[in-house]
Amino acid sequence: MEPFNPSIFIGRFHPLIVHLPIGFLTLSFLLLLIKTIKKHEYKSLALAIRLSVLLAAISGLVAAIVGYMLSSEGGYQADSLDWHQWMAYAIVATSFILWALLKFYHFFSDQGALWFHSFVMLLLVATGHLGGNLTHGSEYLIEYAPDGVKKLFSTAAARIEIPQNPDSIVIYEHIIQPILKNKCYSCHNAEKKKGNLDLTSLEGALPGEGSNSIINPGNAFQSSLFKRVTLNPDNSKFMPPNGLPLSYGEIELLKWWIEQGASFDQTMADAETNAYLGAKLLKEFEIDISPKEYYELVQIAPLAPEDFEAMSKLGIRARPLSIDVNFLDVSINSSGITSGQVEAILKYSDHITWLDLSNKKITDEHLQDIAKLSNLTKLNISNNPITDEGAGHLRGLKHLKVLNMHSTGVGDDVILFLSEMASLNTCILWNTKVTREERNTTEDKTAIEWIL
Ligand code: HEC
Repeated sequence: MEPFNPSIFIGRFHPLIVHLPIGFLTLSFLLLLIKTIKKHEYKSLALAIRLSVLLAAISGLVAAIVGYMLSSEGGYQADSLDWHQWMAYAIVATSFILWALLKFYHFFSDQGALWFHSFVMLLLVATGHLGGNLTHGSEYLIEYAPDGVKKLFSTAAARIEIPQNPDSIVIYEHIIQPILKNKCYSCHNAEKKKGNLDLTSLEGALPGEGSNSIINPGNAFQSSLFKRVTLNPDNSKFMPPNGLPLSYGEIELLKWWIEQGASFDQTMADAETNAYLGAKLLKEFEIDISPKEYYELVQIAPLAPEDFEAMSKLGIRARPLSIDVNFLDVSINSSGITSGQVEAILKYSDHITWLDLSNKKITDEHLQDIAKLSNLTKLNISNNPITDEGAGHLRGLKHLKVLNMHSTGVGDDVILFLSEMASLNTCILWNTKVTREERNTTEDKTAIEWIL
């Protein structure tokens, strides 16, 4: 049972009472609008307008006092709360002023009054919106909006700039601290140490050991910081006692951070992650920790339109991988490769990362040249008269990930040297002389997927 607290008890009526000034102000505004448009017919509205503004001012004052009591409960974001409070006082003040102007200064024109009233309405909308954010969180209104609208209005991304590169993401600073800041700092800061706990300077407070410590590095279930947010929400020890609870994903991330040793400078690249955490990070923080392709990590300047034209004239089809990746996906149109095409491919060798030369009469000699394309990640040389000797040239390709050599003359020897290629991930070898036995001998030693 919570103890009786008259201030908070009355304070909780604030969300109910605020609807009175909202209603009165909306009414007086509409009546004033009608009176301004139809001057001659609705002169008699003046009294009703004045009365409605006065009632708005009085009920607004009551709502503000009750709201002030509610704020003593704590747990609201301090800066939003400040703005909400001061704007609410401004509404009360301007409502009284509007009433006085309407009552005592008869020369005050309808238009003038309408402008003044419009200003009060703007304040009203902004204050109401901030109040809504304080109770429901700023993402509440747009939670079910179409994606475009969400992106436009979402403040989640604006809260903190998270670097793209896992090396630069400091787990505490970019992930854990923002969670605590949003949901715990309002009660646990240097001035307001509820439970004698200041969470804003966790770095300074050496976490202790044992089952009662705030943070027990490596053991979430012996850290009260974690235990408190995972209790049954009805438990009086549940944190936060009011306001938005931690989301499921936030709890998982907090647990992960503590289990990893609760470090304050560990980066995402140093941490142990898995697909499950990856999904949570993506959902909660739009952090993508899935391994990046080589061509996504390395930047290269785009080729000029003339370069593309030159290749096109030679029967080479070349296109950038995507809008932000300037590396090229290249194939040729002719039925066999020409010396001009080989020259061009060598000329643009730095840019080519995908190359398709399937069924183009490629020989071992050509492979000597292709081995110079140091940025290749995907190569298709299937259906060509090549042998183990030619394929041997390819072992210097440090970034090659997918190699397709089906229907070629290669045999068991390629398995040996391909096994040593650290970057190789998939190798397609069906319809060659490679035997399953040879493939099986390397299976435990490499992570390469052999497709026979
Ligand atoms: C509305 C104010 C409020 C908010 C918000 C709040 N707390 Fe608390 N917290 C308290 C009060 C009051 C106590 C002391 C009473 C108690 O122990 O339950 C406390 C105590 C604690 C304690 C125990 C401290 C100790 O020394 O044992 C922990 C841990 C804690 N809070 C964690 C959190 C975390 C984590 C969050 C954010 C998810 C949070 N709190 C948000 C009010 C708050």
